[in-house]
Amino acid sequence: MTDVPVTAPVIAIDGTAACGKGTLARKLGLHYGFAHLDSGALYRLVALGLIDSQGDPHDHAAAERAARAIDLSRIGDPKIRTDVVGKAASTVAAFPGVRAALFAYQRAFAARPPDGKRGAVIDGRDIGTVIAPEAPAKLFIDAKPEIRARRRRLELASHGIVRDEAEILSELLARDAADRSRPISPLREAPDAMLLDTSDLGIDAAFAAALALVDPKIRPKLV
Ligand code: CDP
Repeated sequence: MTDVPVTAPVIAIDGTAACGKGTLARKLGLHYGFAHLDSGALYRLVALGLIDSQGDPHDHAAAERAARAIDLSRIGDPKIRTDVVGKAASTVAAFPGVRAALFAYQRAFAARPPDGKRGAVIDGRDIGTVIAPEAPAKLFIDAKPEIRARRRRLELASHGIVRDEAEILSELLARDAADRSRPISPLREAPDAMLLDTSDLGIDAAFAAALALVDPKIRPKLV
């Protein structure tokens, strides 16, 4: 695999399921005028492709084929946001062939942010460790599991999906455990990641805290 050097400023945001990293990534992207990539959506698209074609997310050859045939035009499709797709995304994300198929797209996004944007914000599980280890600013976001479960319930409710919070909680914990323990690209803090716990922070306060950590690393790259 030929690699592309990443020289554009990149903000890498990793963290646990439903920790709020997507919201922070979007807001940081708007703040700096950077392109934003939700890498989790790529794994969710692979899972949706399989589910839609009656495929089995545990079938690694089928998952790899789905990853190579990923339909990026569906990245905004609300169908990828369900918990069923999230669980299947975590299953397919453990297959090396799936990760390899999605690597080049993410790397190219970091190296050449689309729409002429001057930098990129990418959120996921392995952005600071694997996709953009040279990123000047890395955040690792977490929040107490009960708080993440409540936020996810409210998020789903805003899309008209009613779910039991206790069930969401156990699913989030199971997904975190699977993501942390897989051999390839496990969820873990990069050694140079800055940790942010958003348990006691609303969206605005979490954004202010994230910006205070990121800005000293990113601002010098913008001149
Ligand atoms: O939104 P939420 O935090 O629930 O999940 P997501 O970021 O959409 O990711 C869904 C699943 O994709 C995760 O549980 C991971 O297994 C996988 N994923 C990954 O392996 N690597 C990434 N960079 C992003 C997501």
